[in-house]
Amino acid sequence: QDDKFKKVISHAKEYGYVFQSSEIYDGLSAVYDYAQNGAELKKNIRDYWWKAMVQMNENIVGIDAAIFMHPTTWKASGHVDAFNDPLIDNKDSKKRYRADVLIEDYCAKIEAKIDKEVAKAAKRFGDAFNKEEFLSTNGRVLGYQEKINSTLSRMAKSLENEDLDDVKALIEELEIADPLTGSKNWTDVKQFNLMFGTKLGASADSAMDLYLRPETAQGIFVNFLNVQKTSRLKIPFGIAQTGKAFRNEIVARQFIFRMREFEQMEMQFFIKPGTQKEWYKHWKEARLKWHLSLGMGEDNYRFHDHEKLAHYADAAADIEFKFPFGFKELEGIHSRTDFDLKAHEEYSGKKLQYFDHEDNASYTPYVLETSIGLDRMFLAVFSNSLQEEELENGTTRTVLKLPSVLAPVKAAILPLIKRDGLPEVAREIVDELKWDFNVIYDEKDAVGRRYRRQDANGTPFCITVDHDTLEDNTVTIRHRDSMEQQRVKIEDLRAIIKQEVDV
Ligand code: GAP
Repeated sequence: QDDKFKKVISHAKEYGYVFQSSEIYDGLSAVYDYAQNGAELKKNIRDYWWKAMVQMNENIVGIDAAIFMHPTTWKASGHVDAFNDPLIDNKDSKKRYRADVLIEDYCAKIEAKIDKEVAKAAKRFGDAFNKEEFLSTNGRVLGYQEKINSTLSRMAKSLENEDLDDVKALIEELEIADPLTGSKNWTDVKQFNLMFGTKLGASADSAMDLYLRPETAQGIFVNFLNVQKTSRLKIPFGIAQTGKAFRNEIVARQFIFRMREFEQMEMQFFIKPGTQKEWYKHWKEARLKWHLSLGMGEDNYRFHDHEKLAHYADAAADIEFKFPFGFKELEGIHSRTDFDLKAHEEYSGKKLQYFDHEDNASYTPYVLETSIGLDRMFLAVFSNSLQEEELENGTTRTVLKLPSVLAPVKAAILPLIKRDGLPEVAREIVDELKWDFNVIYDEKDAVGRRYRRQDANGTPFCITVDHDTLEDNTVTIRHRDSMEQQRVKIEDLRAIIKQEVDV
């Protein structure tokens, strides 16, 4: 699994998808740049989301709010007071860690011991092995389980009560060492706000402290009434937005899974109070369906219903995806009640209410939110698509089986050789197709190598121009996944590609 993740990272670099930011200066931790293919893939994911959310729903509109917002926004939203991580420094290594993650990692190691016991017993008992029974009766396993449960529940309680001394005490009792140096010399645990601060204005006296937004959602809440009035939408209706968000995350080394600068695709759906349960169910189903429509395998998704809720929610679930490092959160669906609108009413002194003509009454709407990280979606698509295939002739090929609708390049046009007028015809095909699709021309290396290069790049089609083309205006079209080749007329290419890449 670790190996798979490493392959994903190196493939993303080698094929121009993701680079480390400022690499020539040794990079900036948890910040990444999207390269020529990555920018296209990211744009295609964003468009696929926008189409499903905004274009296909007549009661959802899209906006593009600024990253900077009035600082009171973040008082009202609760981010100034409650958007914290508990941090601990190691005095020897001078490294900083999230205290809760250190404790969770410790528990994950015990979990691995349980897995080892299970594997050992399964080997010993063979067909007679019953995992459920083993887990519920084996003394050593039960001891491990008890240790995990008591540790996690003590940590959760201490964090909830803001008893940071006890979090430190727990780390010391468990004898947790710095993962890099092994040192056990820890400082006190401190709460650390995840928002990035900056200043607006030139002179020191008049400068205003600002934050870079840690979520796009608040740009929607503060615009709720402006959008409702100008669009004349009736409840229920939604406002969608994609854009950058910033968090001073401490956990690094997770590639684009957890970044300091990332992009969210969020939708706030405004509803009548009391209807939140049905809309929560609706959006959970609708969002899962969107994921499944990409054909990346039902088994790769699962819901995780939250027991411990954020300060704003009355119900919340994650759609988790099977990343190379296990099932992890990809998207959140949150029933946010009227927490945000009420808070903004309180802090701004402005009413943010909706007049319901049917009921002849005003109320503050409830909100159902769907929130997905674009970069995380990118990682899900990219890592799931990267495959090594054994071919019949005994060789292996690396193929990036991206859903065609998301692929950065839809077709590569290849002249079989670099003379006899074949490049010219290939260029003509490029000039024709580029009005509708992102296509490229490639004449370097033998055609077999070019096919492999396009396979690894995720290009769904290769179109080869050969000497027969000059006679009968036909070309060979090769399909990335099946490697099947067909002879087709040049004039049919557009329709063939369109059928596969359009949604
Ligand atoms: N408005 C609600 C909200 O922001 P969240 O669970 O904090 O909720 C929503 O974030 C989604 O944003 C997550 O499911 C994840 O996909 C993405 N996300 C959050 N933090 C991220 C980070 N540091 N790097 C990349 N994606 C992130």
